[in-house]
Amino acid sequence: MRVCFIVSLLILASPLALAESTEEIYNRACQVCHATGVANAPKVHDAEAWKPRLDKGMDALLGSIKNGLNAMPPGGMCPDCTDEQYKALIKFMSSPKSE
Ligand code: HEC
Repeated sequence: MRVCFIVSLLILASPLALAESTEEIYNRACQVCHATGVANAPKVHDAEAWKPRLDKGMDALLGSIKNGLNAMPPGGMCPDCTDEQYKALIKFMSSPKSE
């Protein structure tokens, strides 16, 4: 059991993590604020809250993430994410829950 635990920790910490899905990045780096709307953060899957943000255009939103915006630190909690990953995260958060 203990070995299993250590092995899974190693897997999590390995470069394999680069291949993590958008949802995994969200869980790790964005949901701490965007799940509940901390400090006025637009909530995940809340299309109404995201509409005025999306109206600014993708480039402006990318800039907000990279430079930080008010209570949001630069890069959210994923300073190493690529533009493509940020865009995917914005789409993920601004669309209604798919279920
Ligand atoms: C420490 C809390 C926190 C984390 C972590 C965080 N955000 Fe935010 N985010 C905020 C807050 C607060 C706002 C609203 C800022 C405002 O308008 O005053 C915001 C706003 C945004 C916006 C809208 C920006 C705009 O110009 O209107 C985007 C896009 C965004 N976050 C994406 C992300 C992504 C992607 C991640 C994960 C990589 C992330 N955030 C992680 C707190 C956070």
